[in-house]
Amino acid sequence: MVTIRYGVIGVGGVGKAHVKAAKELENIELIAVADINVDYAKKIGEEYNVHWYKDYGEMIEKEKLDAVSICVPHFLHAKIGLDVIDYDVNVLMEKPITITVGEAEKLINKAKKHNVKLGVCFQHRIDPESIVLKDLIKNGMGEPLRGNLLYTCYRDQRYYGKGAWRGTWWGEGGGVLINQAIHYIDLFFWFLGKKPVKIYSMMDNMLHNIEVEDTASAVSLLENNSQAVMQFSSFDNPSIFHLDIRFSRGAIIMDSSGVKYVKTPMLRDMIENKIEKTEPEWATLSNIKVKYTGHKGILYDFANAIIEDKQPLIPGEEGKISIEVVNAIIMSGFLGKVVELPLNPEEYDKILEKLKERKPLGEKYSL
Ligand SMILES: NC(=O)c1ccc[n+]([C@@H]2O[C@H](COP(=O)([O-])OP(=O)(O)OC[C@H]3O[C@@H](n4cnc5c(N)ncnc54)[C@H](O)[C@@H]3O)[C@@H](O)[C@H]2O)c1
Repeated sequence: MVTIRYGVIGVGGVGKAHVKAAKELENIELIAVADINVDYAKKIGEEYNVHWYKDYGEMIEKEKLDAVSICVPHFLHAKIGLDVIDYDVNVLMEKPITITVGEAEKLINKAKKHNVKLGVCFQHRIDPESIVLKDLIKNGMGEPLRGNLLYTCYRDQRYYGKGAWRGTWWGEGGGVLINQAIHYIDLFFWFLGKKPVKIYSMMDNMLHNIEVEDTASAVSLLENNSQAVMQFSSFDNPSIFHLDIRFSRGAIIMDSSGVKYVKTPMLRDMIENKIEKTEPEWATLSNIKVKYTGHKGILYDFANAIIEDKQPLIPGEEGKISIEVVNAIIMSGFLGKVVELPLNPEEYDKILEKLKERKPLGEKYSL
């Protein structure tokens, strides 16, 4: 089987999952790892019997790599991504693609110019339930009419002490929205299949001693006039996840207990009494098999995209959607106004600069 020569940049945290996946996969040859913290680089390099480096540029030059995973703090995604593309090397970026929509656009454009693949690691897209739901939606659910996303998690103060970049506007670029909720924002808009055109939100920091938001609530108008409602927090214990979407010919529900869906006749025809109201029953999904899930599934797909010269499962353009939504929620929460999309990258950069200047804990976000 054809294999690609692979490296991983940043191996102190989730990078370890990339290293393990790359080592195990039949379409990847793990060649080397790089981390600015040489203890991490050496430890992982020795554990997996591959070369290790402090400097990722030196690794790429010496090892003639085809592709790398980038698993570094958020504020380095754009910089390291742009550097790597300069070497004509394919990039699999951990989520979020970047901190700002402007940075994401630069990365996408540069990848196109250099003719390299840019993929984003949202591994819940490759959960078997997500794949089957998306397939059902594409084949006969019709247009989305409304959607609801509730995602909460629990992070204590110690979590934010694990790295100077965490919980800051300069380093993380947001709180629960950009780090945890973004996985589900990505899924939500993938299922909805329509672009957001307006967002209004409220955000606050209720309980954590950090600069960034630990809760946000938002409503969004989509391009087909459907409406989406979202709420997030990082202080819920126990945590809750619930996603539901009503389409013109069916509905889906995904939550912590599983997934269900229903297919119905055209809703408008029932409402206008052109056909009798039916009592459709929810169906559940069971025994779905996919070859690989999680990070292994994402890396396998990415390597195949390079080998077969096709789009990765989550190309840069799709990775940009969730960061644009996150930026818009932050911008609207800060300004107290409805924000229109596509977002103006320069306007968001100005808002982020203002947020970096202040420590809003205990203050409200309005100007
Ligand atoms: N997909 C997921 O489920 C998932 C889970 C956790 C983290 N992440 C994402 O992965 C990224 C990293 O998060 P983490 O929790 O692993 O962070 P981390 O701080 O634990 O690890 C980051 C690593 O990058 C290294 N690093 C920093 N600067 C570097 C440089 N210039 N060159 C090489 N290495 C450098 C650090 O030394 C560290 O080892 C973030 O974007 C995060 O959002 C994704």
